Amino acid sequence: MNGANVGPAKHTVGAGESISSHDRVRVARLPMHFFTVAVAFFGLAVASAPWVVGDLVEFFYQPLLLALTHAMTLGWITSAIMGVMYRYVPALTKRPLRFPRLALLQLGLFVVGVMGMIVHFAIGRWVATWLAAGVVVLSVVLFAVNMLPCLALARGRGVAETGMLLALLYLLVAAVLGLLLALDKTFGFLHGNVLSNLAAHAHLAALGWVSLMICAVSYRMVPAFLLPEVELPRAAMWQLYSLALAVGGLGIALLGGIGGAGVWSVAIMLALLAYVVVLGSLVRNRRMPIDWTMRHALAGVVCLVLSAGLGLMLVRIDPGTALGSGVAGAYGVLGLLGWVTNFIIGMSYKLFPGFIAGMREVVGWPKLAIAELSLPRYRPLVFFSLNGGVLALAIGLITAQVVFARLGAIIVGVGGLVYVAVMTWTLRYAYRPSAPRAASDPLRILPGGSSRG
Ligand code: HEM
Repeated sequence: MNGANVGPAKHTVGAGESISSHDRVRVARLPMHFFTVAVAFFGLAVASAPWVVGDLVEFFYQPLLLALTHAMTLGWITSAIMGVMYRYVPALTKRPLRFPRLALLQLGLFVVGVMGMIVHFAIGRWVATWLAAGVVVLSVVLFAVNMLPCLALARGRGVAETGMLLALLYLLVAAVLGLLLALDKTFGFLHGNVLSNLAAHAHLAALGWVSLMICAVSYRMVPAFLLPEVELPRAAMWQLYSLALAVGGLGIALLGGIGGAGVWSVAIMLALLAYVVVLGSLVRNRRMPIDWTMRHALAGVVCLVLSAGLGLMLVRIDPGTALGSGVAGAYGVLGLLGWVTNFIIGMSYKLFPGFIAGMREVVGWPKLAIAELSLPRYRPLVFFSLNGGVLALAIGLITAQVVFARLGAIIVGVGGLVYVAVMTWTLRYAYRPSAPRAASDPLRILPGGSSRG
């Protein structure tokens, strides 16, 4: 049986609202479409990085680097986060998506817009870039149309939902600013320094959207993976608010050219340090063993600290100089590949198979356990090549050693492509009813439920 055979029965979801069976199936499948897109863009990004790394050693602001940056940040990171949000936001807020069909249109626009941006960044065509950026902004607005009613109207909003709401607002701001920066290349209406405006967009997106979201999601996931019950210190909520406030302050300082960027940077570092402390207290009190998900999360935190240190150095070193450009490149690599990618890969080991197992139940396909949808033997290879490669790449950039930096990018690429292959294997069970061969044993123990959280 597949989703099309499920009758039009209504299910009560929460807050007295109901959803038809067709929409239940559609919503259950949505995250997998986003994860598939995310994994494809990640493959594209890690496979092309070794060819582009020479440009990064020269200077970070170049056409191919703009393309690679957005393959990572929009194609990989933002798609993965959107997939997670489509699953968790209705569940956490107990409100169904208002417009499930709109979500598919949103996905289509997102893929077309991001591909358009990547291609036209790479060949340096600004008119086509801002047209494509406009499509991405429209897609982000449609995403917000589905998410904001759930998040903003939720009663007794918890830490995770609050962080997601703030992060979503930053995504909207960063996306519109990105579009304005692209339009400015044709119409020239923005004041201020190009690199400061660029830094404002990059920080509003990378800190306001991505990092705030990771803090929020980890406050939900890490206790769920390590502790018998989800208990968070009150500091977690304050940490999210102070990070959001400091990112806003930095954005305004950079865009307005009014000074104070250094003060807001220190405030951001302190807010991120508070995150590390809260996470540390959860890990210390854990009742469950550290697995590859948590190893990736912890390696991500180490990269976050290193990246934050380089970020503070950039307050003193001009990114326009050779050393400053190298430090800025290493700062971006440690942030986007070290911190964010480690976190997403680690979480994906639990979330992707969990979501697929849950979706198969909704659709009515044979049940599968999370373990049957996972290939854990490749995880050490992915972990060590990603982290070893990121460190080599960062050192190569700071010391301006192209060969060393390229070697780092190749090592990241090997681990990244192994990850892509493993996740492609997992994700295909979201698109076909058959089970993996190991799961065909008639004596195997059938799973009792789908996933946690
Ligand atoms: C949501 C839609 C987005 C649009 C329309 C957009 C657009 C742009 C544009 C036009 C530029 C070049 C600006 C210039 O040359 O002055 C740029 C640069 C940049 N963007 Fe985005 N962006 C988006 C999302 C993101 C996200 C989500 C991130 C990070 C998480 C991000 C990170 C960056 C970075 C780091 C740069 C500078 C790259 C470099 O100098 O090599 N962007 N973006």
